[in-house]
Amino acid sequence: MTLGKQDRKAVRGSLVYFTGNPFNQDVGECLLYEKDGILVTEDGKIHDVGPADRILPTLDDDLDITCYPDSLIMPGFIDTHTHYVQMEIMASFGNQLIDWLTEYTFVAEQKFSDRAYADKIADNFCDQLLRNGTTTASVFCATYPGSVDALFGQAAKRNMRMIAGKVMMDRNAPAALLDNAEDSYEQSRALIEKWHGTGRASYAITPRFAPTSSEAQLEAAGRLKKQYPAVYVQSHISENIAEIDWVKRLFPDCRDYLDVYDRFGLLGERTILAHGIHLTDAECQRLSDSGTALSHCPTSNLFLGSGLLDIGRMTQGDRPVKCGLGTDIGAGTSFSLLQTMGEAYKVSQLAGAHPLTAARAFYLATLGGATALNMADKVGSFRKGLEADFIILDVKATDLMAQRTAHAESIEEILFILMIMGDDRAIRATYIAGQCLYENSC
Ligand code: GUN
Ligand code: ZN
Repeated sequence: MTLGKQDRKAVRGSLVYFTGNPFNQDVGECLLYEKDGILVTEDGKIHDVGPADRILPTLDDDLDITCYPDSLIMPGFIDTHTHYVQMEIMASFGNQLIDWLTEYTFVAEQKFSDRAYADKIADNFCDQLLRNGTTTASVFCATYPGSVDALFGQAAKRNMRMIAGKVMMDRNAPAALLDNAEDSYEQSRALIEKWHGTGRASYAITPRFAPTSSEAQLEAAGRLKKQYPAVYVQSHISENIAEIDWVKRLFPDCRDYLDVYDRFGLLGERTILAHGIHLTDAECQRLSDSGTALSHCPTSNLFLGSGLLDIGRMTQGDRPVKCGLGTDIGAGTSFSLLQTMGEAYKVSQLAGAHPLTAARAFYLATLGGATALNMADKVGSFRKGLEADFIILDVKATDLMAQRTAHAESIEEILFILMIMGDDRAIRATYIAGQCLYENSC
């Protein structure tokens, strides 16, 4: 008996996935829709994908096929920016970024010096990801190394592909949260050695944002990146006007906000910066040239009154920036990438010349997110050899959605209904590496 044969599974339903980028290609060329399709997985990877009538004759008679009528089978959602340590301050009233950080965030994150508390929240966080159809996330932990062990531990239990890192911050926050340049270097280095490449874990060097790191700490972060070029870098940029003014005062010699990170060698194909609402054209050009990705976090940007990102300005034209979507919990207001797509659509209505199409939104949440995280060779689409992280979306999750989808005329219309009306109720099941880890019992 071969292990591969033992671990083979098949799901049947309507397949929807991207093979290219609808921001610079015709949708018809890059959005694949197979009304009656089958996805075959083996040992956690995709073994075959295509129309049922081609695949059925290739399957052993005794193979169980799980059927999902009225459902879409799609690659798992990818959340390119979030903070597990801020789950408990979601929906905290009244302030914009700097005051919100001081009043709520820096207080909440101190609790993560307690490992048992970190374990409990990390466990809950991973469950929330699964119930919302998110199979991979890029996550900020707290300054305490134990908070990173807690998250990677819970992700490993579920075999989830996860990027995470210890926040580096050595100024402009309460003393209990601060590290210093050398300690943050040593702690991050030890965490890289422990976690990067262990199972499905990837480490991200995580300077919180320019105002909370000294030059010495940014230099230490750059030194780490040079020593470990395969690890990620994640931070925040140009989210709020007062924040940008502050960065100008703190780094008077830098050309602009992005230049702070650039000078310390922190840009590149494995760097993800959240927000970027107020970036200049020169900064966008540099993001594009360096391959640095941006995480668009619309629910957070609306909640904190930070501004409206023009996603079209970022993704199109002659200096495209790789973009994904981020929930940015706890400034973000939902774990659901469906709701995040819906808010991205509304922001695009207010910010740009072209409303965000459903195809582009779902691209950002799947293959676009994987591309932003430099892991499109592992997740984000369906083809033989990719990891079998996928979700089942129920297009009739609520009575209202059932009524509305009943007269939808195209797959793009159904996707649009899902992103405007859908939330965790529309996630029927979430599969990690071929295993069903979440099922919506309703
Ligand atoms: N900028 C620096 N830290 C944070 C954070 O925790 N959340 C958000 N939204 N922006 C930040
Ligand atoms: Zn954030």
